[in-house]
Amino acid sequence: MSGAREHIAWAADVPLDEALRLWPLLSPAVGVVKVGLSLFVEHGPAAVRPFQTQGAAVFLDLKLHDIPNTVENAAAAAGSLGASFLTVHASGGEEMVRAAVRGAARGAGRAGVAPPRILAVTALTSLSDSEVNELGFGPSAAEMASRLADAAVKAGAGGLVCSAREARALGARHPGLFLCTPGIRPAGVAAGDQARVETAAAAIAAGSSLLVVGRALHGAADPAAAAKALHDEVSAALAR
Ligand code: C5P
Repeated sequence: MSGAREHIAWAADVPLDEALRLWPLLSPAVGVVKVGLSLFVEHGPAAVRPFQTQGAAVFLDLKLHDIPNTVENAAAAAGSLGASFLTVHASGGEEMVRAAVRGAARGAGRAGVAPPRILAVTALTSLSDSEVNELGFGPSAAEMASRLADAAVKAGAGGLVCSAREARALGARHPGLFLCTPGIRPAGVAAGDQARVETAAAAIAAGSSLLVVGRALHGAADPAAAAKALHDEVSAALAR
């Protein structure tokens, strides 16, 4: 299996020992491991290296959001780890996103590794339109994502994190931009705390470059079979 593998990131939102046990089951079908806040806060770089040594591309989902100087230094540290992707919140502003891109390149350069692609999170896929509205972020999640996307692209982000429901519009507004979409659910799998979910095939059809899937894989009765089914769904969608 290949091709579709590079378009699927497993959100390893489980304890590290469990993640390392699951990875060999998933890796024939999945090429990217997403190390999120809980794993990284607990283990730091030790949550990155074991996956890299097993050939995985690592997606560091740290969702950095602070003043530009702090984000630049954190991105430099993250960039030195050889991760393939690093997230920041677009709502930190253009200057902050620019600082992340600069910091990641600096850290990677010093370590002699390729810099991570900086992905700017637009609107969390757990946010519903009414929450977006209550928080004063605009009339809808789609509108919020579009405004934040413009700022992130202007700042030189290497891509966006958005809901698959917003991918088509964002892709039309920013042709060729790398889009990463969490909130993916195979038919019949519970949405959990996600509000704006889509199937893998719909996400690919909408122009997503990288699908992030967590609980639908590690929460499945047979994670290897779930990964293979997801891979085949993505493969078929890519061929359309
Ligand atoms: O288990 P599930 O497939 O819902 O996991 C989705 C993953 O994607 C989680 O790790 C979550 O942190 C991440 N994510 C998200 N929405 C965003 C950005 C990242 O759900 N906008």
